[in-house]
Amino acid sequence: MSQATTREIGIIMNGVSGRMGYRQHLVRSILAIRDGGGIELPDGSRITVKPILVGRNEAKLAELAAKHGIEDYTTDLDAALADPKWEIYADFLVTKARASALRKAIAAGKAIYTEKPTAESLDEALELARLADAAGVKTGVVHDKLYLPGLQKLKRLIDSGFFGRILSVRGEFGYWVFEGDWQPAQRPSWNYRTEDGGGIIVDMFPHWNYVLENLFGEVKSVYAQAAVHIADRWDEHGEHYTATAEDAAYGIFEIEGGIVAEINSSWTVRVNRDELVEFQVDGTHGSAVVGLFGARIQPRNATPKPVWNPDLEDSHDYDADWQEIPTNDVFLNGFRQQWEEYLVSFVEGTKYPFDLLSGARGVQFAEAGLTSSAEGRKVALSPLTLG
Ligand SMILES: NC(=O)c1ccc[n+]([C@@H]2O[C@H](COP(=O)([O-])OP(=O)(O)OC[C@H]3O[C@@H](n4cnc5c(N)ncnc54)[C@H](O)[C@@H]3O)[C@@H](O)[C@H]2O)c1
Repeated sequence: MSQATTREIGIIMNGVSGRMGYRQHLVRSILAIRDGGGIELPDGSRITVKPILVGRNEAKLAELAAKHGIEDYTTDLDAALADPKWEIYADFLVTKARASALRKAIAAGKAIYTEKPTAESLDEALELARLADAAGVKTGVVHDKLYLPGLQKLKRLIDSGFFGRILSVRGEFGYWVFEGDWQPAQRPSWNYRTEDGGGIIVDMFPHWNYVLENLFGEVKSVYAQAAVHIADRWDEHGEHYTATAEDAAYGIFEIEGGIVAEINSSWTVRVNRDELVEFQVDGTHGSAVVGLFGARIQPRNATPKPVWNPDLEDSHDYDADWQEIPTNDVFLNGFRQQWEEYLVSFVEGTKYPFDLLSGARGVQFAEAGLTSSAEGRKVALSPLTLG
């Protein structure tokens, strides 16, 4: 009987003290994979993971390492990059600090796995994609929204032909983020400062780009209106600051095949929806409303026939016209699911689609949103290449 092999992959995890780095990437992905005994490949062999925590505050790293039974941590990124034991560099830093760290990691020959946006400008994002391509290193960029149960149900509806011809997509994302004076804000204050890499366009548009292109088709143009609705905010230390970055963006996007998508992103909206993000998709044969978890459909054969009459109160219960899609699958945490796919692709040497070029398209989309808003015009997107 042949002995099943185990391949341990060393991963440099930079920025694990942050919101995303700690919860989603360290605890819910890498430690969950480690504690679950790794990932089993079809041939019976296994991938296991070994993280090294990297950050600026040694005491914090030591505390996290002790809490989670992690042997390695360091404040010296260069030393970790120089050690061949660590094969993958993973980055969850604030956006502003990302490009320089990725550049170093690529130069050190590490495979890359990173949060979005991959850089602050399209030029830099493309440069990183090209550097990685030239160095022959595998790259992966977080595309977590695609793994949301609601969006996976939507993908299945699309693939099954439920919609007929898709006409439009309406997305509502957002919730109220407190200003920080009488209640602490639930997002870091850098999110509201352009000079620190903040703004909801840079934060959310990269997500909308990969959601739209992977579910509906290539995005052709971007029109956006950004707004700093609330300029007075208070930071983590209770200090007042003036927001320089938009806290809401209203976007209209043209997709190949004539599909029009309209997505509002806001940290200054009170939720009147079932979930913090919802998309309505209308097609010739049916419509769907999907959120993080839920998905409801209305086929054309069950579509009511409303007649506009403002003189008569309408007693029809429109909510009742929608049918809930059952949860037929067990959905893993999306960040973990993507990490597992990336690690399998890394070990098997297969092409990984959500790479730095895909990340650069996300940055291009965000940059187009900012340009559109500043100049009051629709911005066409041209295809990006590594050449
Ligand atoms: N995929 C998603 O859904 C999602 C959601 C939120 C944020 N993000 C992205 O994740 C990244 C981190 O966001 P967050 O909300 O976790 O931020 P955060 O402020 O909670 O964490 C940022 C991390 O970067 C470190 N850091 C800050 N300034 C640094 C500097 N100058 N040099 C080196 N390290 C520095 C901090 O110590 C911390 O570990 C951002 O790029 C953001 O766009 C992604």
